[in-house]
Amino acid sequence: MSKNQSAPAYTGDIAAQEIDPSREYSKENQEIEFSGEQHAIWADLFAGIYQPYLIEHICAEWKAGMELLELSPMGICTVRHLIDHITPRTGWRIERTVVRYTLADDWYKKFGQRVFLITDYLRTRDQMEFTPEPDMFHDIFGHLPFLTQKFYAEIEDKFAPAYMKATQEEREVIKRLAWYSTEFGLVAQENRFKVFGAGIISGRKELTRTIMEFYRLGRDNVIDYSKPVFPQLEAHFRANKTNLYRIIDGVNALHQKGQMSTADEGWNVALGLYKSLGIKPEGIFGGEVILAPFDIETIARIPKTVYAFNPMLFVCRSLEEMDAILDSYLKPIAMR
Ligand SMILES: [Fe+2]
Repeated sequence: MSKNQSAPAYTGDIAAQEIDPSREYSKENQEIEFSGEQHAIWADLFAGIYQPYLIEHICAEWKAGMELLELSPMGICTVRHLIDHITPRTGWRIERTVVRYTLADDWYKKFGQRVFLITDYLRTRDQMEFTPEPDMFHDIFGHLPFLTQKFYAEIEDKFAPAYMKATQEEREVIKRLAWYSTEFGLVAQENRFKVFGAGIISGRKELTRTIMEFYRLGRDNVIDYSKPVFPQLEAHFRANKTNLYRIIDGVNALHQKGQMSTADEGWNVALGLYKSLGIKPEGIFGGEVILAPFDIETIARIPKTVYAFNPMLFVCRSLEEMDAILDSYLKPIAMR
């Protein structure tokens, strides 16, 4: 199947693809001439997210990184621009690839060399709000501001050495940990929940739905934002763990049936599961997404490969704590 003929089905696995290796970018030739329409899509994506009422819900480190990265709101920057703004700060390099979903093993090999791959694919007009497939807007706008920041480079440095030495089973956990931290993680900052994951930051729909849940938690008196928020979330988690795990089992069952693979089904997963499991839609179960503390045991149970809207997001007490939790799992494996 030519990848241009029909959209890939998001079964949750990374799609196999036919790649013409002669099309891969060389070290010398990393740049692309983008069309006017592609620059316009970039500008509209940028303007759709880079709004004060949205970015106030994104963590401080991303905002600091955005200042340093100096991305143009008007069009797609060159790889050279990215390297010049990132490599001197953290040592990470950026490489363009034709591969649209890089297989985890290849991805981590590059990661181990401190190379962050960006695709040469940009979403089309009909995917402005949401694309299940990570495109270059996701890579550049979502991840790369962070790569100007030392702490993020250090977090990213942890994954590859562990992944290389991990058993197959551990690799699944590692992929989930990466998914629910750097892709879809949240963090408590300024006594609010803030978005950390690049997958949320780069998708207007995912971002706005996540922010709506922050407000709902306040509106429904689940979280009192005038008191420390993280201990309240922990208390809800402890009190509701049984139902939370029933929901995760439900997500796994849907995932195995391939029913987590479209945006339409994905957005309604949590609501559908409250109904089918007889869980009252109130408290932490009142919204389209469930917030829980970042906890390895829980994350290891829920599939990573949910290309639709994630029904559950995990919050770290701080980025330092995220670092420590990731270390506790990844370091012993890396040191084998
Ligand atoms: Fe990503």
